[in-house]
Amino acid sequence: MSNAVIQVENLSVWYPLRSGVFSHVDRYVKAVRSLSLSLRKGEILAVIGESGCGKSTLAQALVGLTPWHDGSYSLFGEKVDVKSGASWKSAREKIQMIFQDPFSSLNPRQSVSEILCYPLLTRGFSRFAALEKAHDILEKVGLSSEVLEKFPHEFSGGQRQRIGIARALMLSPKILVCDEVTSALDVSVQAQVLKLLDELRKSLDLSLIFISHDMQVVKAFADRVLVMYLGETMEEGSVESVLRSPQHPYTRALIRSIPTLDRSCPPEILGGNIEPLPDDFLGCCFVSRCPESIDACRKKNIEMHTDGFSGVRCLLCAK
Ligand SMILES: Nc1ncnc2c1ncn2[C@@H]1O[C@H](COP(=O)(O)OP(=O)(O)O)[C@@H](O)[C@H]1O
Ligand code: SF4
Ligand SMILES: [Mg+2]
Repeated sequence: MSNAVIQVENLSVWYPLRSGVFSHVDRYVKAVRSLSLSLRKGEILAVIGESGCGKSTLAQALVGLTPWHDGSYSLFGEKVDVKSGASWKSAREKIQMIFQDPFSSLNPRQSVSEILCYPLLTRGFSRFAALEKAHDILEKVGLSSEVLEKFPHEFSGGQRQRIGIARALMLSPKILVCDEVTSALDVSVQAQVLKLLDELRKSLDLSLIFISHDMQVVKAFADRVLVMYLGETMEEGSVESVLRSPQHPYTRALIRSIPTLDRSCPPEILGGNIEPLPDDFLGCCFVSRCPESIDACRKKNIEMHTDGFSGVRCLLCAK
């Protein structure tokens, strides 16, 4: 796709599980399984799914914080060599991550000045140039330069998340991966942080991957949505079309679980839990919880039918 700022093909991330006295790897958690996605310039792509479906692993893989088992990756049309530290160092000048928890993601022993300047100093910038950039970025995230000599514990959750956003912007990336960035914040602060992200997106010409489990926030904030289950994409498409007419049974279940103001229509919670699949599993990964499953859903792996913008992985929707 010509205007894609991110192009991921068949990303797999496996976490090794070790056991025994010699810590042998005897199994893997396949947290992301052959997932492909693209992000267009200026777009906000939401990634949604229940806890444990692989959203944070996907986010970390996109910025090189977790190793890729397999897959290919391009940023702005340039290939990232996912096995090379040097390639990741240059990729992080284009793509940065903001973390879920503003309390644990900032080193409590570093001042804001140290936190913000570090990525520039490791790239050979002078202390003066790094501080000048820090002043500029702090203004953009709505904080004064007085915070530079303070430490993370001196701030509220919302202020810490602004510092997390400032840190992500220090290398002037054009893509931000936001992993549940408002879920640890009070509702009123959540709205302020979302507003700030949207303003920054416009003023700095950013594109965003926006990970969330909150469908209401996704509806208000994102352009397109990718629904994940057990490390795979179940459905993707414009927020409007996916929420108005969800094709995949899992998307429908997620939408039915949203509380509404209508008391005659209480939320329906999807039964069962996300359970890891055995290695020899064949069929649709959602089959054990799917209210619409048929025998054929257990007999072969289900392909994702997508044009890169919208698509669905369900036997009942196959064209
Ligand atoms: N460091 C890790 N080691 C082993 N398993 C992990 C690790 N991190 C996550 N997992 C597992 O990978 C799966 C996906 O987790 P995660 O990406 O955190 O999902 P989400 O962000 O959607 O809640 C889960 O089964 C989780 O237990
Ligand atoms: S393929 Fe079958 S089990 Fe999977 S979502 Fe579709 S109907 Fe349900
Ligand atoms: Mg997560």
